[in-house]
Amino acid sequence: MTAFETRALLKQLEAAVEENLDRHLAAAEDWMPHEYVPWSEGRNFAALSGEPWSVEQSGLSAPARTAMEVNLLTEDNLPSYHRELGHTFGRHGAWGAWVNRWTAEEGRHASCIRDYLLVTRGVDPERLERARMATLQAGWDAGNKPLLHACAYVSFQELATRVSHRNTGRYCQDPIAETLLARIAMDENLHMIFYRNIVKAALEIAPNQTLRAIADEIAGFVMPGSVVPGFARKAAQIASAGIYDLRIHHDDVIMPLLRHWQVFEIKDLDEQGEQAREDLAAALGILDARATRFAERRAMAETGDTSARAGG
Ligand SMILES: [Fe+2]
Ligand SMILES: [Fe+2]
Repeated sequence: MTAFETRALLKQLEAAVEENLDRHLAAAEDWMPHEYVPWSEGRNFAALSGEPWSVEQSGLSAPARTAMEVNLLTEDNLPSYHRELGHTFGRHGAWGAWVNRWTAEEGRHASCIRDYLLVTRGVDPERLERARMATLQAGWDAGNKPLLHACAYVSFQELATRVSHRNTGRYCQDPIAETLLARIAMDENLHMIFYRNIVKAALEIAPNQTLRAIADEIAGFVMPGSVVPGFARKAAQIASAGIYDLRIHHDDVIMPLLRHWQVFEIKDLDEQGEQAREDLAAALGILDARATRFAERRAMAETGDTSARAGG
């Protein structure tokens, strides 16, 4: 898509952005992050004559600690996301207003998860701070995604983040953590709905290009947390615990959006649009097969059954 075409599309979508920004502002609750943190549990660390952190102080299991850490570090990288979205959506009009509002809402997420983890001594604060520094210095580069690709990506990503927070909260087995992460997940849900509606509007304006963007973003989806130090190992631990795995990604993130957009019912596509839809179906098949294989391997590892592995 040329720069001229992108500008035209931004303009065509502006009415949908404005309408959805208004809808979002009416639906979003003004919640107070400090109300979700058990401050009375807090105490000084070593430099202020308190006790240094040690792992027995944490009420969280190892996978819960990892999931919390990845969720928090992902939220921490907000400056990069703001830059990338500002670059793609622009600073002006309804698009610019949305980027700033979204940034303000996202800013709450990292601060209250960090407050919770520091006050409850849920994770190693020193390790966390070093990982935060490394994550922000790595930054997040969306790779100059074209406008429609960016809209498809953030639809999937916001829903993935919602599911990931919600499942992490449940996994923590601490009602305070669960309430906090459920509250954040409600924000992510509203963000997802915003982008989902923009993609829906784009499917009406430019169905062939939008399908191409959706297909590409499913095939190449990478979580924004992938720049977190040790992400592959951490993601594997999170998947093994069943907090977020390929099956969840396929069933609870990709499929609900595809159903909402009714991608398989769209008529009168041109040749490129049909090709995009075929590619999309192929990407879904690959993802589904990988999800099934992963679940089988996990089940085998859990039961300690290695005999089936030799057979494939
Ligand atoms: Fe967030
Ligand atoms: Fe979000």
